Amino acid sequence: MDAPVPGSPLVPETMRAYGFTRYGGPEVQGYFTAPVPSPGPGQLLVKVHTCGLNPADIKVRSGRRAGVFDVVFPMAMGREVAGTVVALGTDAAGFTVGQAVFGSPSAGIGGLAEYALLDADAAAPVPSGLSLEQAAGVPVAVGTTLDVFDHLILSPGDVFVVIGAGGGVGSVTCQLAVARGLRAVGVASAAKHDLVTGLGAVAVTSGEGWVERVRAAAGGPVTALLDMVGGEVLHEALDLCGDETQLVSIADPVQAGTVGGSGVARRRTSEAYAAAARLLLDGAVSPLIRVEPFSRAAEAYTEIERGHVAGKIIVTLDED
Ligand SMILES: NC(=O)c1ccc[n+]([C@@H]2O[C@H](COP(=O)([O-])OP(=O)(O)OC[C@H]3O[C@@H](n4cnc5c(N)ncnc54)[C@H](OP(=O)(O)O)[C@@H]3O)[C@@H](O)[C@H]2O)c1
Repeated sequence: MDAPVPGSPLVPETMRAYGFTRYGGPEVQGYFTAPVPSPGPGQLLVKVHTCGLNPADIKVRSGRRAGVFDVVFPMAMGREVAGTVVALGTDAAGFTVGQAVFGSPSAGIGGLAEYALLDADAAAPVPSGLSLEQAAGVPVAVGTTLDVFDHLILSPGDVFVVIGAGGGVGSVTCQLAVARGLRAVGVASAAKHDLVTGLGAVAVTSGEGWVERVRAAAGGPVTALLDMVGGEVLHEALDLCGDETQLVSIADPVQAGTVGGSGVARRRTSEAYAAAARLLLDGAVSPLIRVEPFSRAAEAYTEIERGHVAGKIIVTLDED
């Protein structure tokens, strides 16, 4: 059977999307109608069921990543999706129409839309046992966590400080640290104390005096530190970890680099995403997700922009 193509009875000519028409603040965000894209070589056209939202979407919308990150206006927000393959470009071997997949949208394409293009080499089948809601949150939160663990040198019993422990990446990082026998010390607001404790980490409240509270809670030398906040918080954290090569900030890699630390190299590949999904299937991590309908995309991004989300938000396009 031939794969359906845009304009065929199975795939409409146009789709609804939520994104931005130019760089700017929240005022440039909104719903818009756009042509359904056609898959080029090595691409999959996917009917999107779920899309993970992230702070990076706001950085892209604001223009802070202009010149580094491909944007084609109007651009849907969202950099991770799960959905069903509805058409294949040439050279997209290994995938079939009707298959459930998850991954990263292609360059210049956003995911918070009824359809999205995925590069076949940045997509993976949704494994049996994983929901589409779970799968949409794998590439960023779980994938980044896996890349951080591949970067750091850690052994059971080591102390691993996680700043921003109650957010999308931090909550998964705490879970994987505990699963690997580390002593995870999670820094978060008082409101997230129970959440962080529930991840198996030692919860330390953020705010004035937090560095001393971490030293007291660590119970020994800090082996590694992952920062998800940056700015003044990272500045205060710089001498917490004795080995600067074990200091990683994914919020502020430039500042981490000033003392010999770094960001983390991301692997946005089918193999890396499949490995990240296996962490859920194995029970090593169980990401905290909250599912919101497509109609509440604006409210979801307002919450993300405030910077205090618990876990991460997944938008479903199936409920409207
Ligand atoms: N390089 C990459 O590939 C990559 C990948 C993923 C994420 N990132 C970046 O990493 C950062 C975190 O991402 P995310 O998805 O985890 O964001 P998130 O879900 O918004 O989590 C950030 C967490 O930090 C907490 N926080 C805010 N101020 C804090 C403080 N002073 N001390 C301790 N915690 C504080 C927030 O809640 P509470 O204050 O209530 O605790 C929130 O839970 C973002 O800047 C994102 O863009 C980079």
